[in-house]
Amino acid sequence: MTDTVHISVPGRVNLIGDHTDYTGGLVMPMTRDTRTTVTGQGNTSRVWNLVSHDEADSLSIALPIEDPSSMQPRWGRYVAGVLFELKQLGIEVPGFTGEISTTIPIGSGLSSSAALEIAIARTAISIANVVLTDADVALLCQRAEHIASGVPCGIMDQLCVAIGRPNTATLIDCHSLDVQHVAIPDEIEIVTRFVSHRTLVGSEYSERVEDCRQVENIIGPLRSATINDLQKITDQRLLQRARHVITENQRVRDFAAALSQKDFASAGGLMLASHHSLANDYETSNDQMERAVQDMMREPGFLGARMTGGGFGGCIVGLRRR
Ligand code: GLA
Repeated sequence: MTDTVHISVPGRVNLIGDHTDYTGGLVMPMTRDTRTTVTGQGNTSRVWNLVSHDEADSLSIALPIEDPSSMQPRWGRYVAGVLFELKQLGIEVPGFTGEISTTIPIGSGLSSSAALEIAIARTAISIANVVLTDADVALLCQRAEHIASGVPCGIMDQLCVAIGRPNTATLIDCHSLDVQHVAIPDEIEIVTRFVSHRTLVGSEYSERVEDCRQVENIIGPLRSATINDLQKITDQRLLQRARHVITENQRVRDFAAALSQKDFASAGGLMLASHHSLANDYETSNDQMERAVQDMMREPGFLGARMTGGGFGGCIVGLRRR
């Protein structure tokens, strides 16, 4: 009898540093206590059979997979993308029968898809009896996300979900993949609030990624650019995009320093500045998100609030004094 595999993976919320990861910048997300769980058993077949507690249709995938991006039902694309990428790495994964459930709200910008990918990757790695680093798991899951959704996301979500620790922010350099774990001080709490459902598929996310490519053609890598480089950009839209990324990278550095010095007023101010930069320069907010941030800031104890993740809906995150 094969051992039962039980894998549980958290969702994440991003405290600061949005739309910086795909140009190798800085981000500071943290895991949440919502989780995606996979339970089941490996077998000697070449088929993955999965039922999901959160999806109507079950999934049956025959290995090897030719085209993961056309898998039906659609949620199976994330599973197939991961199994496909493992095969690309030369890892032979046996069959598996199991079930998935999640407490991460789906389509809310809290990394339900990254958690699904990491949970599937860890399950497959476990039954294939191989060892991969957390960074390698995150990178293969990022490629799987590109295949499954067509959205050219950065590495933040997959890496945070793979390596994050409870009640601890994860400061990630998305170029070197260096990570620092920064404990959330007891005096404050992080509050995540749902605003609206969203999907980055078909959103302007890909256009923002393309804008950044164009900026980098003019001024070189955004991750090392300074505010002085903005003088070289004549196009107003590209100027705004670059200004957001350059100032956001600095805000992440300043936020990490403010947290470790317990300067919570400054940390909150940086979150608000991040929100305004995303809304005005990066144009990823909307009326609902604006109202939600304003409402949160009127509540007692809040020092900062901002939209979090890809934007165009989703959730906001706030910093509240306990
Ligand atoms: C989504 C993407 C991430 C990142 C954020 C914005 O969550 O998956 O890679 O780009 O948007 O910071």
